[in-house]
Amino acid sequence: MRRISTKHLKPGMELAQSVISSDGKVLLAKGQRLRDSYIARLVQLGVYSVYVVDPRFPDIDAVDFLSERTRLRALRMVRTACTSLIAGSVLDAPAITDIVDMLIDDLSTKPDLLINMFDIRLQDDYTFAHSVNVCSFAILIGMSCALNRDQLRELAIGALMHDLGKTLVPGDLLKKPGPLSPVEYEQIQEHTSAGFEILRRQGEIGLLSAHIAFQHHERMDGSGYPRGLTGSEIHLYGRIVAVADVYDALVSDRAYRPRFLPHKAAELLLEQSGQFFDSEIVHHFLQQVAFYPTGTLVRLSTGIIGVVVDVNKPITTRPIVRALYDTEGEELDDYYELDLSINNDISIIEVIADETRLA
Ligand SMILES: [Fe+2]
Repeated sequence: MRRISTKHLKPGMELAQSVISSDGKVLLAKGQRLRDSYIARLVQLGVYSVYVVDPRFPDIDAVDFLSERTRLRALRMVRTACTSLIAGSVLDAPAITDIVDMLIDDLSTKPDLLINMFDIRLQDDYTFAHSVNVCSFAILIGMSCALNRDQLRELAIGALMHDLGKTLVPGDLLKKPGPLSPVEYEQIQEHTSAGFEILRRQGEIGLLSAHIAFQHHERMDGSGYPRGLTGSEIHLYGRIVAVADVYDALVSDRAYRPRFLPHKAAELLLEQSGQFFDSEIVHHFLQQVAFYPTGTLVRLSTGIIGVVVDVNKPITTRPIVRALYDTEGEELDDYYELDLSINNDISIIEVIADETRLA
């Protein structure tokens, strides 16, 4: 398979991964052959890129860190929780716990698991898809910090519901592309305390889970909100979800800026670790993130251009690259592979975002 921008799709190409809507429906299933009308729909929905089958790379497989079934159920759960709150009902805490258990099971059965995919989410479903990703990342960090099952559950419930307070913020404000006025900024900040109040009023959701909604925008140096807590005043769960939240926001298209590629997002987290984020947690997290996900087209320091075919854990910054083009840009007769975790003298100097080279 390979990843391709929606704008470069052609009729007849076969989808290698399903495209899923914000409310947990399969819009286009894996194996579907594309037609003009499907491609137009994907563009209209704001899907930036998809995975397609490429007979030249049958062995390249970008595996989602969640099974499709778990992802769909979790998306539906977040959506249901938001609609219940808007309708003035209480949250279904046992159902939330069930979903969280499914997520923990899904993620804990794959020891070599890496966050190794480009996101193929739709443009308008930020909150739902974001909540599921943040919850998954928080579980991965929690496992790497050796939290026990009860702690993982507490962490995951809070992570899945961390932005629930946004149901009280006007939608236009959340999507506003320009700079915010001080009043608008204050309104957005209120989603933290609003989320905390909502969650703690649900008898069956623990207070520590509710505190995740309260604390996920706090920063280690005290520059966060709503209370400007510092260092260990922020609960471990709050520090974990802060990292998961920011990473997922960075790799997503937002109204006010385009997405960062995974290696850039990882570099930004590293730059801000210690100041904004708990450096130990950033370290735990980045060991689980493929800086150059499978399918990324890269230029090496030798001038060769190749595609990432696999990622080594724990050396997630140095993947295995299949060389495709020589230094003159000519396609090689025989592809060969370079394991950058062994070839220390070769480095990735550029990610080639425009994959027309592979078309
Ligand atoms: Fe938030």
